[in-house]
Amino acid sequence: MIILGIETSCDETAAAIVENKRGVFKVRSNVVSSQIKIHAKTGGVVPEVAAREHIKNILPVVEQALKEGKATQKDIDAIAVTTGPGLITSLIVGVETAKTLAHVWNKPVVSVNHIEAHLYANFASNKKVSFPLLALIVSGGHTELILMKKHGHYKLIGKTRDDAAGEAFDKVAKILKLGYPGGPIISKLANKGNARAFDLPRPMLKDKTYDFSFSGLKTAVLYESQSKKHNFNSKKKIADMSASFEQATVDVLIKKTTRATKEHKIKTVLLAGGVAANKKLRADLKKELQTELPKVELLLPDLDYCTDNAAMIAVAGYFHARKKEFTQISKIQADPNWELSS
Ligand SMILES: Nc1ncnc2c1ncn2[C@@H]1O[C@H](COP(=O)(O)OP(=O)(O)OP(=O)(O)O)[C@@H](O)[C@H]1O
Ligand SMILES: [Mg+2]
Repeated sequence: MIILGIETSCDETAAAIVENKRGVFKVRSNVVSSQIKIHAKTGGVVPEVAAREHIKNILPVVEQALKEGKATQKDIDAIAVTTGPGLITSLIVGVETAKTLAHVWNKPVVSVNHIEAHLYANFASNKKVSFPLLALIVSGGHTELILMKKHGHYKLIGKTRDDAAGEAFDKVAKILKLGYPGGPIISKLANKGNARAFDLPRPMLKDKTYDFSFSGLKTAVLYESQSKKHNFNSKKKIADMSASFEQATVDVLIKKTTRATKEHKIKTVLLAGGVAANKKLRADLKKELQTELPKVELLLPDLDYCTDNAAMIAVAGYFHARKKEFTQISKIQADPNWELSS
């Protein structure tokens, strides 16, 4: 089966061709047109600007994905498109494009949940997955622990009560005047810093639930940055704060994930979303699981499939298409608040 994936939920215009032959995925193309440079000027995504860029880019991106994937409309078995959650003005561009192509080419369409797709990015690697599975989703808009007993079956066991992990990285970068998006910049600076230089809180670490909270941590960074005790014009101080903030965030994420893995007798842990690209998080989670639960399998997504892309949309779409879970073209709608549930 060959799927054309389309993604425009936030600020990346993306299209991909993914093939699944006898259960094995091959990503034939994965084209992402990023708007990062445009949104860096405003320090965050301006929805109206993002939508205009999607309109400009969507058709060239789809054409490039077909070309690089050596596919024509005849080869496509289904179109998978993100219909939510995300920015309504951005989602609409991908949704209307998918509907138009499906109508003209006479192809079935799968409505894909963007968070489900982040999770399914891990399946592109074709590694064996055993259930029950626990997914730690850490992105720009979400921080969630999702329990899966089987494909398509989701139970939310924990989520952030305020900022998402990626959002916290972005806001801390703004406080430290480092640029946008904050995650990759902070992560790079953290490499040269001392993670023990600042004694930052580990919010909700001792709390019995699997919920998270990152807004207090961000505020702690703000207060430290305003304190006369430190000179934040110094590169060393910035690197130390980046490392201390990154470590505090990673500590909470891995401790809660490990505790949930033990309690729910999880066989596979998956990391997903933009923050899954964070090297410290990947390394510390691996180390913690190997020490505490050596039998548990850890799946880490390929770095190309962490932040928004359409390969993950096509992979998630495949699991629905194989069960013929298509949506009638006239009923496909962008749903900015679509929460993942079974
Ligand atoms: N190496 C990294 N370390 C930490 N954070 C990172 C890294 N790379 C990217 N991020 C963060 O990942 C986020 C973007 O991820 P993603 O594209 O999944 O989010 P989104 O699509 O905006 O949100 P959502 O998926 O929740 O709708 C940003 O907040 C960015 O700072
Ligand atoms: Mg995303």
